[in-house]
Amino acid sequence: MKIFIDTANINDIKSAFELGIIEGVTTNPTIISKEGKKFEDAIKEIAEIVGEDTYIFGEVVSLDAENMIKEAYEIKKLHKNMIIKIPMCKEGIKAVSKLSKDGVKTCVTLCFSAAQAILAANAGATYVAPFLGRVDDIGGNGIHLIQEIMEIFEMQGMDTQIVAASTRHPLHVIELAKAGAHVATVPYKTIMQMFEHPLTTNGLAQFMKDWEKVPKA
Ligand code: G3P
Repeated sequence: MKIFIDTANINDIKSAFELGIIEGVTTNPTIISKEGKKFEDAIKEIAEIVGEDTYIFGEVVSLDAENMIKEAYEIKKLHKNMIIKIPMCKEGIKAVSKLSKDGVKTCVTLCFSAAQAILAANAGATYVAPFLGRVDDIGGNGIHLIQEIMEIFEMQGMDTQIVAASTRHPLHVIELAKAGAHVATVPYKTIMQMFEHPLTTNGLAQFMKDWEKVPKA
């Protein structure tokens, strides 16, 4: 399972990329708004850090297919591996159908049901982004949603990949990997939490302490 980082914060992206384990950056209008920069500037700055082979996801903000498509072509110019996020709605699916026929890579976002994921796949979306944390927030089971979509995509031989979004903690990431999700997009804080285990911390401290006792040349 690939790990993407779900942020537009330059310091977090720099720090995460140094680990060598991050293959993409996902943004949405809320994430962009937190950085206080113009959308184009934020994407260009991210592109400078991650290089041309990394996927960067940028979202359209129009609500009709014609303008979504226009925006998609503008966003696409910002980076070699730009993925265009398009919200789940009738106009969005119309736009994705057209863009996928023209070879533009898309991600249908704000997906909360298997029915929506089927529509995205049939429109030829490269990715679909189910928001598991937000499903959990309203008393649903986000991981069950991912499992259901995976089962359908596999059974039907659908090429659309799942980029599981709205991940909130390391257990989400573990369960996503077990469910076979293609990608988990994860906030910086969660990536850092994934490193933590008290036995690792204590074990390393003990190794350092014991090393002091080893005679040195
Ligand atoms: O990529 C979408 C994701 O960032 C939403 O996360 O935590 O706002 O539900 P959240």
